[in-house]
Amino acid sequence: MPSLAIIGAQWGDEGKGKITDYLSGEADMVVRFQGGNNAGHTIIVGDRVFKLHGLPSGVVRPGKLAVIGNGVVVNMEELLVEVEHVLENGCNIDGLRISDRAHLIMNYHKKLDGAEEAYRGKGVVGTTKKGIGPAYQDKMARIGFRAGDLLEEDLLKEKIRFLIGYKNDLLGMLGGERCGCTVESLFAKMMGWKEAVGDRICDTSVLINDALDAGDNVLFEGAQGAMLDIDHGTYPYVTSSATCGGGICTGAGVAPNRIGQVIGCLKAYTTRVGEGPFVTGLQGEEERRLQVKGGEIGVTTGRSRRCGWLDLVVAEHATRMCGFTSLAMTKLDVLNDYEEIPVCTAYRIDGETVEHLPASISRMQRAEPVYKTMKGWKSWNDTEAVVREGYDALPAEMRGYIEYVEDFLKVPADIVSIGPDRNETIDRRGGRWWD
Ligand code: IMP
Repeated sequence: MPSLAIIGAQWGDEGKGKITDYLSGEADMVVRFQGGNNAGHTIIVGDRVFKLHGLPSGVVRPGKLAVIGNGVVVNMEELLVEVEHVLENGCNIDGLRISDRAHLIMNYHKKLDGAEEAYRGKGVVGTTKKGIGPAYQDKMARIGFRAGDLLEEDLLKEKIRFLIGYKNDLLGMLGGERCGCTVESLFAKMMGWKEAVGDRICDTSVLINDALDAGDNVLFEGAQGAMLDIDHGTYPYVTSSATCGGGICTGAGVAPNRIGQVIGCLKAYTTRVGEGPFVTGLQGEEERRLQVKGGEIGVTTGRSRRCGWLDLVVAEHATRMCGFTSLAMTKLDVLNDYEEIPVCTAYRIDGETVEHLPASISRMQRAEPVYKTMKGWKSWNDTEAVVREGYDALPAEMRGYIEYVEDFLKVPADIVSIGPDRNETIDRRGGRWWD
């Protein structure tokens, strides 16, 4: 029953796409369990570049099942554009499966996302405006469309009738634009979705559990990161799904004892997109240096990411919430050529030293980082040699940095990434992930 999960240990954008791609080589099935097309990952296959948001990354690899679990919210319209893009580039979607319990993101969810943000005024969350929050609101309010509804036409019509009226009233109240569709036009559009992917909709929990029973390799692919978790993140500056370990169970329909190893993807520094507290966040030139060196521009929104030093209070919280068994430390090369590198090991809040992430946003906003200063390292020009010779060939100061993090979190950094290419990955387990 080999299963691996990859979860972001910060606020997303830790480089999960690269690590998922690296580990999915031997996976039979890749499963997304939360989030929606607010995520973004770039996959390079030969000379083809795929920028995917809604489709699981396994979809472009022949012979793999790529599963959208029940915990995901699916924007069918945008998913079909991605499917087109994948087909035009010579790949197929034979392996795509969509949970009949996955909720659908509708156009009115996107309008509501914009209207709610505008209504919040100064308290804006800085969402991706993809309709993620409003779609999850409907799920919890028990009025959402699920993918399986596409297969039941009478029920679908009834729901459409209710929801168009309800959402128009709501949008009117928030000063947003109305739905702009009729019962007939929306029904016709949804029948188009059914025609395109109706045969991919199934009970994916059964599929995943059967695969685990058969001894297949199943990879659970997290989106966003632990700090954006609806319960355990920096609420309310979070996304609306369960991004931590528990989200795999509820969002894929698997029991806790079916999850094997959990790999925490930890960027060597910290970034976040959107609003919310960021204790180690930098300003001005210092921030700009990391932004430029790290290419920190969002794949989904095109916004510049806020940048700062590594925050181990955040990483400890993520480790506790997700049960990391390994770390994949990424983008260490971005820290080349610093004399010294600060690492945050605790917060000072109102004169007190705090070791665990506070729930209170105002406390987070008052927190000052307590830094340990690590020695920096020089860049080297023979990356290939370092990759060939492995971990021990890394500069001693870089190893010191990695090992400090390992000791602090009590989790081995089994994967170390020192560049964007697939071969700039040091695998300290020599590829033995599915034994
Ligand atoms: P939403 O998920 O669009 O509702 O946005 C809520 C918050 O999560 C905002 O701060 C977004 O910038 C952030 N967010 C959502 N998806 C991602 C992601 O894939 N990477 C980084 N931040 C994200």
